[in-house]
Amino acid sequence: MELTIGVDVGGTKIAAGVVDAEGRILERLRVPTPETVDQIDGSIAEAVEKLLSAHTGQISAVGVAAAGFVNEHRTTVRFAPNIAWREHPLADAVGKRVQLPVIVENDANAAAWAEYRFGAGQDVSDAVTVTVGTGVGGGIVLDGQLLRGAFGIAAEIGHLRVVPKGRPCGCGQLGCWEQYASGRALVRSARDLAISDPEAAEPLLQAAGGKVDRLVGSMITEVALAGDPAAVGLFAELGRWLGEGVASLANLLDPAVVVIGGGVADAGDLLLQPAREAFASHLSGGANRPHLELRLAQMGNDAGIIGAADLARTR
Ligand code: BGC
Ligand code: NA
Ligand code: ZN
Repeated sequence: MELTIGVDVGGTKIAAGVVDAEGRILERLRVPTPETVDQIDGSIAEAVEKLLSAHTGQISAVGVAAAGFVNEHRTTVRFAPNIAWREHPLADAVGKRVQLPVIVENDANAAAWAEYRFGAGQDVSDAVTVTVGTGVGGGIVLDGQLLRGAFGIAAEIGHLRVVPKGRPCGCGQLGCWEQYASGRALVRSARDLAISDPEAAEPLLQAAGGKVDRLVGSMITEVALAGDPAAVGLFAELGRWLGEGVASLANLLDPAVVVIGGGVADAGDLLLQPAREAFASHLSGGANRPHLELRLAQMGNDAGIIGAADLARTR
């Protein structure tokens, strides 16, 4: 059977896996994302080489899912708000070392493709995936096709402006959706609360060993799932930002399903319920149109790996 390798390169970790034609990960590994562009190239190539050595002769191509603006030829990362890539020829850099065809795809596009092919969007032909992590990513499948746009940058929904003159964003603009609806925004709100109201944030602080700057997303999820009202409130706020944004997306794209993915999806209904409510109450002409379905991602943090590998297989 033809196997391919998918590598998901995010702001905090690089995850790679050997994937079969049914979207199953046969083997995987994971390393933290290093600082420099050269080091990142090196870590990707090293991860691929390790996986290759266990599957000699079985791998036909590599797909790299990159958290940035990827060009229409799927070779170069033009720009990334949260990683140092600027016009970086990532496919060449990795291809030279691993001696296999390499395609690069935006990470959220890859995740959306995985959810459409094998996950939460399997039963529809128009699905948008919103990935909530360090940034907010988007992937759009319309009529069964992944939408890339003229320059490869379609679906950069994290940079839709939601607050005029709002918080500064890594993309150079102000008030982008990802400054309010990302995992990083969730952590920021939690830390702000821990400082402004340590009493209310007591369980959150405890989870972080009493150190505000040790507080990370997975702790907020744990504390929320255990029923702490402050942590539940933080997810409700994040859910509202997501739901309102999705109501706008519905006007542009009219998908049947919007899939919410990324680490915060682990909070499940604590996130999805407020998102659904915000969506319903902000949908234009909402009483007179069908409502899309908001669903949790099925592939979780594996979506980038699986989508990139599948896109490499069908390159
Ligand atoms: C980037 C996107 C990426 C998303 C999720 C955003 O900041 O602009 O390219 O898909 O983060 O990683
Ligand atoms: Na995208
Ligand atoms: Zn932005």
